[in-house]
Amino acid sequence: MVGFFIMTNEEALDVVFNFIHPSILEQLKAEGAYTDILSGKIKTGAEVYDYIDEQHASLQDADYTSLVNTLKADFNAGSLLQIGCGRGDFLLRCANIGHSPIYGIDRSSVMLDEAKYKLRNNQNANLYLEKIENFDFSKLNEINNVILNNFWGMVDEKSSIDLLNNIKKCLTPDAKIFIGTYSDNAISPQRQKADITLKNNLNFLFSFGFFKDFDQCRYDSKTIDIGNEKYFILTLKP
Ligand SMILES: C[S@@+](CC[C@H](N)C(=O)[O-])C[C@H]1O[C@@H](n2cnc3c(N)ncnc32)[C@H](O)[C@@H]1O
Repeated sequence: MVGFFIMTNEEALDVVFNFIHPSILEQLKAEGAYTDILSGKIKTGAEVYDYIDEQHASLQDADYTSLVNTLKADFNAGSLLQIGCGRGDFLLRCANIGHSPIYGIDRSSVMLDEAKYKLRNNQNANLYLEKIENFDFSKLNEINNVILNNFWGMVDEKSSIDLLNNIKKCLTPDAKIFIGTYSDNAISPQRQKADITLKNNLNFLFSFGFFKDFDQCRYDSKTIDIGNEKYFILTLKP
């Protein structure tokens, strides 16, 4: 229960992680899921993935058939790269509808090991264990599609801008970058209070927010609706 005036660090974490089913969150907490944040060891949502174990990572398994079926009308034919590919289901669905070669980059070995397993029979799948901030995009080429699903906001604004600029090294002129999902809904007062509590007390920031000044990186953008949310589609300015 969130206090009316003062929110404890644990209550604030409950708010930030309220996208996890309450019974699963209680189980995770009982297993010490908050410990490294409360001790100050983990400072961002992205760092959680450096310490996650297979049991907890598997709770993030998802079936992206429906999302890929919705987005595919806008995909270019050909190659596809996913930034922060996680456990690989999105890439697998894209491979299954004919995209090749397939590339994925992720900082978490536990997440990526599952992606490697899912794509083990695909000769044209290439998965890289690396932080996106350090990735050399000049080692890829002729990328027709880039996907950032449930990833944007995990890197800060400077890294977001660097990523959008550096990735141009490997894009075809008509490449498309898909970034989602995004909601226009304002952040609730309760979530704002939780973010401030965690920032002030623990210097912890779950998400950096959704950078969308794509124009400054010389991309045109449009949005498409995905349920109640949106996906951005970026193309290089002529
Ligand atoms: C919320 S999960 C989403 C996974 C996948 N995109 C999906 O939609 O199922 C975010 C993923 O991004 C990865 N990640 C976060 N920060 C990263 C970074 N700086 N470089 C590379 N991968 C990162 C995490 O390891 C994690 O697998």
